[in-house]
Amino acid sequence: MTGEMVIVLDFGGQYNQLVARRVRECNVYCEIYSYKTPIGKIKEMNPKGIILTGGPNSCYEEDSPTYTKELFELGIPVLGLCYGAQLMQHILGGKVERAETREYGKTEVLVDTGSQLFHNVLPSTICWMSHFDYISRVAPGFTITAHTENCPVAAAENATQGLYAIQFHPEVLHTQEGTKMLYNFVRGVCGCAGDWKMDSFVERSIREIREKVGDGKVLCALSGGVDSSVAAVLLAKAVGDQLTCVFVDHGLLRKNEGDEVEAVFGPEGDYDLNFIRVNAQQRFYDKLAGVSEPERKRKIIGEEFIRVFEEEAKKIGAVDFLVQGTIYPDVVESGLGGESAVIKSHHNVGGLPDYVDFKEIIEPLRNLFKDEVRKAGLELGLPEYLVFRQPFPGPGLGIRIIGDVTEEKVRIVQDADAIYREEIANAGLDKEINQYFAALTNMRSVGVMGDERTYDYAVALRAVKTIDFMTAEAAEIPFEVLNKVMNRIINEVKGVNRVMYDLTSKPPGTIEFE
Ligand code: XMP
Repeated sequence: MTGEMVIVLDFGGQYNQLVARRVRECNVYCEIYSYKTPIGKIKEMNPKGIILTGGPNSCYEEDSPTYTKELFELGIPVLGLCYGAQLMQHILGGKVERAETREYGKTEVLVDTGSQLFHNVLPSTICWMSHFDYISRVAPGFTITAHTENCPVAAAENATQGLYAIQFHPEVLHTQEGTKMLYNFVRGVCGCAGDWKMDSFVERSIREIREKVGDGKVLCALSGGVDSSVAAVLLAKAVGDQLTCVFVDHGLLRKNEGDEVEAVFGPEGDYDLNFIRVNAQQRFYDKLAGVSEPERKRKIIGEEFIRVFEEEAKKIGAVDFLVQGTIYPDVVESGLGGESAVIKSHHNVGGLPDYVDFKEIIEPLRNLFKDEVRKAGLELGLPEYLVFRQPFPGPGLGIRIIGDVTEEKVRIVQDADAIYREEIANAGLDKEINQYFAALTNMRSVGVMGDERTYDYAVALRAVKTIDFMTAEAAEIPFEVLNKVMNRIINEVKGVNRVMYDLTSKPPGTIEFE
């Protein structure tokens, strides 16, 4: 392990974490810093390379994000992307202007394959463009190494000084050879050895957490989901006994889930987390009694969760640090992502802190994407079923029961869901479908069982295929599988006499059935 690192300076673009992720995919460690980070700090970190990201501004405007020219004189290779490329040219004496039309989307780019950046790249390659401004004249010492039909400078470089500017976005997958270009930069130009792996992330985090925490006390809310589990185990490995994990069982978990979480993290499990399980089921059922409006249910569950957690925290006393399993997509969706623009507010970020007596938050997974968190989880030895668990909403089954929530309805939906999950796994579909679960509609209808008339609930089965959970399509489950699930649910789950499959995509539906 050489400890080498590339840093990404964030100028507010939407794809900044993707840049870091692609660099990590080249086995080079990468961290993101705001463009406001002082040059002194950058010198101290002594990175092997620096990447300037895209951003929404125009670099020639007075109050646009900028950086001191000294950055380009450190002898450290710099790669500017989009806004970063324009800024580099602007600062070093090139000219950036407003184009008449925006260049947007997949675009054919003609590259000079003699450039180290484009080593092994096809002379004509498809890249993702998204810009209004363009570089109309390169800075002294630079040569143009790529262009498009409309853009005279799609890339430029001053190879002797290790300075590279590209107008398109190599980090997005639409740029067909983008990862190769980033590889050429970090491994070729910067000379990184590429010996970083997820275990290095784990090691580094443990080291950093130890340094930060010292002999302080740490509290973690553990839900049993992937993110909080990985965060908790990371902390346990770093500070051992100084950590206490509180698991609130709100009675709205999947069947047997509370016990499963306890088996892994409790005193009988492999980790020493000072695990406290709070059985607060009845409190939640009482609070939810008679409430059917979904947003109100969410609010009640969220507030009660905080209250229970707070009571537990009080018993423990003041702590120095609170751990949260925030991961990068949470950060972006809440608009807390460095310099990027707000997209939407998110349910998991920023909930707890006001209510607990602590000094600082630790978010060890803040820079990782979900699949990277999973890799870290495996590295930490967490069981696969836990690491590859599908998403489960914080308010749990409370929102998968349409209408008011009762203990009886929770039992019905838990049992139906357990059968559904079992049969999906039996059919070998569990890795293919991104999220699937049973929900309880608030509809009762007439049926006949044996010789008796029934008047029971209808269960809805949901299964979706999705990449980002922002859009989704109903999964095509073979009819025999659905049929078997239906049969088993009707036979085994008392109170259900109809099973329906939800075909709705998102939009217009949501993934949850709430
Ligand atoms: P929707 O229903 O909005 O869900 O299409 C998109 C994804 O988000 C999950 N989801 C939640 N996750 N807390 C969470 O951690 C929540 O309150 C919550 N609500 C929805 C949902 O399961 C799906 O994966």
